[in-house]
Amino acid sequence: MAKDTAGLPPYFNIDPDVALAEIGTPTGTAGFAAIAAACTQGRADLASRGLNEAGRKQLRLFSTWEITRYLIPVAQAHFRRVLKQNPDLPQGTSETAGGAKWFTLDEVLKLRAHFAAQGSKAKNYRPYRPEGLPAKLVAVANFKGGVGKTSTAAHLAMSAALDGYKVLVIDLDSQGSMTSIFGGTVEDEWQTAFPLLARHYGEHLRADNQRRLDRGEAPQPLDEALTEALDIRAQDLIQTTHWPNIDLIGAQLNLYWAEFQVPVWRMAARGWKLWDALTDRLEEDGVLDDYDLVFIDTPPALGYLTINGLAAADILLVPLGASFLEFDSTGRFFDMLHSTFASIEDGENVAARALGRPEMGFEWDAVRAVITRYDAAQQGELSALMQAYLGQTLSPHRQDFTALIGQAGEQVSGIYEADYRDFNRETYARGRETFDATYAAFKRLLLGIWRREELAAQQAEAAQ
Ligand SMILES: Nc1ncnc2c1ncn2[C@@H]1O[C@H](COP(=O)(O)OP(=O)(O)OP(=O)(O)O)[C@@H](O)[C@H]1O
Ligand SMILES: [Mg+2]
Repeated sequence: MAKDTAGLPPYFNIDPDVALAEIGTPTGTAGFAAIAAACTQGRADLASRGLNEAGRKQLRLFSTWEITRYLIPVAQAHFRRVLKQNPDLPQGTSETAGGAKWFTLDEVLKLRAHFAAQGSKAKNYRPYRPEGLPAKLVAVANFKGGVGKTSTAAHLAMSAALDGYKVLVIDLDSQGSMTSIFGGTVEDEWQTAFPLLARHYGEHLRADNQRRLDRGEAPQPLDEALTEALDIRAQDLIQTTHWPNIDLIGAQLNLYWAEFQVPVWRMAARGWKLWDALTDRLEEDGVLDDYDLVFIDTPPALGYLTINGLAAADILLVPLGASFLEFDSTGRFFDMLHSTFASIEDGENVAARALGRPEMGFEWDAVRAVITRYDAAQQGELSALMQAYLGQTLSPHRQDFTALIGQAGEQVSGIYEADYRDFNRETYARGRETFDATYAAFKRLLLGIWRREELAAQQAEAAQ
């Protein structure tokens, strides 16, 4: 640094000739390809560190301490006694002779099943899921970027899996962050949720063509891609992950294509109910019977994919930070939700009214805003104000900012994948506590909703 600039702010005394020497040549379109290739190489390098031999992510092990503290609520001595009495149960492995025992999540699930079958009924080893009712779909959405949608959805999926639920995660964001977190591999848009939308449209067109033929009109052509989509089931798109009870429908950049294709289809067939596509297909393919919970991560936009995800959802979670800008833009997001869904309803109901048919309306079991990355020292007042205006819509738990998130590398995504031995125990306990509490608030909502449906089903049965 030249001596005459000492003490001045860094933007004074910049020599244009020095600046010129630093800038390199202008960038053309091909320059983006070169930058993208460099990122891909760096990503592959990161991804290759700490993966197992098959090149896939591997979930860490769980210690007796963690299991009895967080997953199966029994005293450690009792836990050890039960294992000793049942040599067929997983016994865990230890790094040193006589050292602490560690278990895979698969083994933890087996142990939980054993305790649930043999242990005290009052302990609720297995989470509540009313029999015969479908899985609950949870969409996490906000028009604003970077508010914690993916982090919240991923942590809830992991908490629910640790709690014993069977979880499907659907990534509707072509950024594919959720897919990376769960180590998914997606070649192109045909391995994302896109073919489910294509099939829904293809089936609509086919039914429409039947009506045309019946009227003696020429059918609309089904192109090759649509014909192929007619044979794709949700199960063909679902991949397993390094979590034994979390599966994934992944995303990658090409999924963005849906935002162009869907409106073209809709123009060609005005009667196609595009917003029902995801729900209908998941239902028809039995996905809602195979899982307990389906978490849908959406992009920071209110496009067709997000509309599909939101329309499919039973529970809508809207994460936002306790800052003026995020509160402001989240308010506008709700405004957009209102106008978008109201205009769909209006469009549908004009015809319904004319034909004397019942009108349609969207409904969500619950809609909750969730404060994320909360800093009690700075944001108490703003949060209290948000609470005052949003009332029950704002989830009572504020998810704290924690250093445990976002610092981990490619291999470890968030608190539940991190090994507590890598952190100060206090830091770990606090970080975990805030995400456990986020899950607890969500689970109260879920159980209340399921219970409401269970009672309604029982009443309906009794009335017969
Ligand atoms: N509780 C938290 N504490 C600390 N950092 C957090 C927390 N939640 C999220 N973050 C960080 O905030 C950033 C944005 O989070 P995330 O990717 O989940 O947001 P998003 O809404 O999904 O973003 P996008 O709109 O791009 O999809 C990430 O770097 C994430 O690690
Ligand atoms: Mg995201």
